[in-house]
Amino acid sequence: MLSFEDDTPVATPALGLQMVKPSQQPNRSAATAVLAESQADESENSERFTRVRAEDKRIINARTDVNQLVPFKYKWAWEKYLAGCANHWMPQEINMNRDIALWKNPNGLTDDERLIVKRNLGFFVTADSLAANNIVLGTYRHITAPECRQYLLRQAFEEAIHTHAYQYIAESLGLDESEIFAAYKEVKCIRDKDDFLIPFIDVLTDPNFKTGTPETDQQLLKSLIVFSCIMEGLFFYVGFVQILSLGRQNKMTGASEQYQYILRDESMHCNFGIDLVNTIKMENPHLWTPELRRELTDLFQKAVELEYAYAEDTMPRGVLGLNAPMFKEYLRFIANRRCQQIGLDQLYPGATNPFPWMSELIDLKKEKNFFETRVIEYQTGGALSWD
Ligand SMILES: [Fe+2]
Ligand SMILES: [Fe+2]
Repeated sequence: MLSFEDDTPVATPALGLQMVKPSQQPNRSAATAVLAESQADESENSERFTRVRAEDKRIINARTDVNQLVPFKYKWAWEKYLAGCANHWMPQEINMNRDIALWKNPNGLTDDERLIVKRNLGFFVTADSLAANNIVLGTYRHITAPECRQYLLRQAFEEAIHTHAYQYIAESLGLDESEIFAAYKEVKCIRDKDDFLIPFIDVLTDPNFKTGTPETDQQLLKSLIVFSCIMEGLFFYVGFVQILSLGRQNKMTGASEQYQYILRDESMHCNFGIDLVNTIKMENPHLWTPELRRELTDLFQKAVELEYAYAEDTMPRGVLGLNAPMFKEYLRFIANRRCQQIGLDQLYPGATNPFPWMSELIDLKKEKNFFETRVIEYQTGGALSWD
């Protein structure tokens, strides 16, 4: 039987299927060409309808059709997609009245507490747009497993919800939104974090960037690790602890509730990214070179420094029972965890978690307390009335 190995439908990440006809193959012998001609109809037909087999799917550089979700191969991605949908929430569902009253009361919060809120919004209000753009304009087109693309679509919408939530808090409190939205250009500790991230986003959004060589595949892998383990898995955590600490002291409870849902989403984004990275490593072990591991270790160290500088800038003094040095330990603890999760050695052996309560919040079940504080006038899509 003729082998049409070279004719296997090729899926390019961005475009889907491309068919290569036998007659377009230039180096075939005459005999092969005759046989090929006689079976042309049949083979073209079978090529056109080649069915996707799970074992042929790959996270990157797949040759299978990216438009066919099933048969499933990466069930972990599909399950995370379902979990993300089950956790759906919208910022308007959360009552902000107490926050508004507290913010307007001149004695409601200290200057240091107000600084924390403003810096937090300053960082996050653009960070999640960067995250969304990175997914939609970069990562998505380089990932060739449809289950993973399905999760990325959900994740992109969640990033939009997060940007919406930060904007909603800023608007509710009557903050100068132009100042908040410009913070990532104007406030050094925020700009430094974004300057660190942006080159890793730019590489994936460059229209000329294509995977398929060890070098470009490593670049993609590096960007995925920076994005999920450093941006979503480390750069968000000083801010999360700060706002959730306010909430634990019964201050800014609406904002704190918004952050709880965001934290839960982000922790799933981070876990998805880690599964993605580990599966790419498993499918392409040649990419995980000592040089890449060294480079990643340096990036984690730099990221801990940048996030610590952010902690120092946003907490010039102790506030809410927190101080910057506690975050040095916390960031080392998180960096160890992220390194371990992707198979790198721990960078700071022995680091401990000064905020064990954060782990409980990450596991928050929306059903437990969500509907007690929910703004009841708000209706979700499933409950809309069309009268
Ligand atoms: Fe987000
Ligand atoms: Fe995220």
